Amino acid sequence: MNRTLAGETPGLVGQEVLLKGWVHVRRDMGKIIFIHLRDRSGQVQIVFGPDHPDYETAKTLRDEFVIEVGGQVIQRSPKNINPKLPTGTVEVQAKKLIVLSAAATPPFPLDDTKPVNEDTRLTYRYLDLRSQRMNANIRFRSLVAMWLRNYLTNRGFVEIETPYITKGTPEGAREFIIPSRLHRGQFYVLPQSPQQFKQLLMVAGMERYFQIVRCFRDEDQRGDRQPEFTQLDLEMSFVAQDEVLELTEKMFTALVHELCPQKHITTMPFPRITYAQAMKQWGSDKPDIRQHQQDPDELGFCFIVDAPLFEYSATEKKLVSTHHLFTAPHGHDVALLDTDPAKVRGQQYDFVLNGFEIAGGSIRIHDQELQRKIFKLLQLTDQEIATKFGHLLRAFAYGVPPHGGIAPGLDRLVMILRHEPNIREVMAFPKTGDGRDLMMGAPSELPASALREAHIAPRGS
Ligand code: AMO
Repeated sequence: MNRTLAGETPGLVGQEVLLKGWVHVRRDMGKIIFIHLRDRSGQVQIVFGPDHPDYETAKTLRDEFVIEVGGQVIQRSPKNINPKLPTGTVEVQAKKLIVLSAAATPPFPLDDTKPVNEDTRLTYRYLDLRSQRMNANIRFRSLVAMWLRNYLTNRGFVEIETPYITKGTPEGAREFIIPSRLHRGQFYVLPQSPQQFKQLLMVAGMERYFQIVRCFRDEDQRGDRQPEFTQLDLEMSFVAQDEVLELTEKMFTALVHELCPQKHITTMPFPRITYAQAMKQWGSDKPDIRQHQQDPDELGFCFIVDAPLFEYSATEKKLVSTHHLFTAPHGHDVALLDTDPAKVRGQQYDFVLNGFEIAGGSIRIHDQELQRKIFKLLQLTDQEIATKFGHLLRAFAYGVPPHGGIAPGLDRLVMILRHEPNIREVMAFPKTGDGRDLMMGAPSELPASALREAHIAPRGS
């Protein structure tokens, strides 16, 4: 007999069904045992009477046992209907019960009723994910990713995977490094974003690229930051800033309308606020433009444009890029590169939602000489330019279309759409604030033999 899902039972009154799932709750009412069986579709009530052949087994059931139940779906009498349960008009009279897996008592309640210490939740993440809240968040995230993938694919974008084991691409964050076994003393790094690859894909003639991609940054953690996170990374050829912003605005408006119809957007079209104006009016480059910040269904999107291309770093005692060093200067400001580079505005944009930066992007430099000039302004030596970026400059010698793109952070977007307080609540297996995976026990030590193979000698050994 094929399996039936709990959520399908209201349409199957009178029929025999076979259900498989978890014991969500068990209640004994006199001699009758009621079980709420939970599966991926929801829950349904199962009833065992005292004359049931598996009654003794039913008595042994505890929360989170995994069971198989055969039985008949029956209509509940009007007074027994449970309006709180989507399947509350029916119940299943059990005929056969098999325990597929017994379960120890979970270390915390899985019904979202009590606050639970987050380290405990992360240690037992597979249990935490059984809760209704986490289950709904992870499913919604999958829906958003699929929606975005369809949206872009339908508009001529090609999804292309780029390497995770690669060379560093300085974009401001510290990188995770991987020692090479085959090439002693040499290292790969995990990419902080596919920035250079997507630009090289434009040189390759792909014209419209996207990828739902993991990015890695060895940074200190915050509520909206994780060492690995996911971007919807995209790049387009033959576009100016307006076209990237327009695509972004249309895509996010449609996504909200289709996936979150209860939500409303503060201002349409999304305001384009200059960096200077944002700093003056809000004192922040991530202004929260909502009219009612307490309203969980209000979404205040805006773009911040015309930020300075460089800022002075007191620690490094030199100019550094505010977005990244591939960003094109404003056409009108190019002459200032020689006279007053701190005044040059970038063709760069941040995309802000409810006071969070959810995406950053820019129009790129596609001219070898201009790119070289920017590297020089950032005080890279000829040697550094050749070793770090020789491949990019070489590629730019072979016909490169003007191009630009943007990269929304999927975790931050889903966090806000789900009205969650931090991105860990919308990631299946996030790390703690100090970068640990408590469930797997990472990071961990490695046997000396593995270290030797990677040509690593722990300090002091
Ligand atoms: P940027 O560095 O601005 O741009 O990153 C884009 C978006 O990625 C998300 N994000 C993060 N999310 C969670 N944890 C983190 N540690 C984290 N860091 C960034 C944010 C951010 O807005 N290559 C460029 C994009 C481009 O120019 O096209 C880039 O990575 O939502």
